[in-house]
Amino acid sequence: MEKGRIITIDGPSGVGKSTVAKSVAKNLALMYLDTGAMYRAIALEVKKHSLSLDNDDELLSLLSNTDIEFVKDNNVLSIRLNGEDITNEIRSPEISKISSDVATKSIVREKLVEIQRRIGLAGNIVVEGRDMGTYVFPEANFKFYLEASLDERAIRRRKQLLEAGIELDMNKLIKDIESRDKQDMERSESPLHPAPNAVIIDTTNLNTDEVINRIITEMKGE
Ligand code: DC
Repeated sequence: MEKGRIITIDGPSGVGKSTVAKSVAKNLALMYLDTGAMYRAIALEVKKHSLSLDNDDELLSLLSNTDIEFVKDNNVLSIRLNGEDITNEIRSPEISKISSDVATKSIVREKLVEIQRRIGLAGNIVVEGRDMGTYVFPEANFKFYLEASLDERAIRRRKQLLEAGIELDMNKLIKDIESRDKQDMERSESPLHPAPNAVIIDTTNLNTDEVINRIITEMKGE
C-alpha cells in the first residue's frame, strides 16, 4: 500500500501526542502530520462564519472553499487556512470544543481523511490523531496509542494553555477533557479507540524522553 514507512500515534488530548510525535519524526528524519490541527482549522472557519453544524449544504460549501496547508519555515511548522497562518489561533479551549463537534460530521471527516491519506501515502511520516491506526492508515507499519490519567492530562493541558497566556481552572479543565473524550470516543464515525495491533503506552508516569525511547525501541525491535 504505502511507499514509505507510516507510524501512527493516536490517543486522547493531553497525553503528550504532539510533543512525542514531533520528536519521533525529528529523530528518525520523517515527516510529521498533526491531523487534529486540520479539524481545528475547520472549527475556526465554522466559528468565523457562525455556521450551524446541522446545515450540511453550508458545511459542504465551506469545506470546498477551505484550503489547509502545512508550511515548514526555519524548522518551525505552521498551519495555514486559505493562506493565513492560524497556528496559534486554533489552540484556544473554544476551538478545542468546536473541533470535537466538527469531527462528528462525516462530510468533514471524508474531506480531511482524503487529504491525510494523500499526504501520508506519499512517504515516510509520523501521523498523529484519533483514528490514524484504526481508520486512516490501517496498514501502517507501526501503531502507537498513548494514554494517561485524567488528572495528569489536565495538569499538562493547563501548563500548555498557561504558556499560551490562557489560565483555566483545573475543575473546568477536567470537565472539558471528560466531555471531549466522551464525544470523541462515542461518535459513530471513527471513534477514538486503540487499533487492535497498536502498542499502548501509559504516559502518566513517563517523561517525554521516556515515551520517545519506548517508541523508538519498539520500532527497532521489529
Ligand atoms: O488532537 P487535537 O486535540 O488537536 O484534536 C482536536 C479534535 O479533533 C479532537 O477533539 C477530535 C478531533 N480529531 C479527530 O476526530 N480525528 C483526528 N484524527 C484528529 C482529531
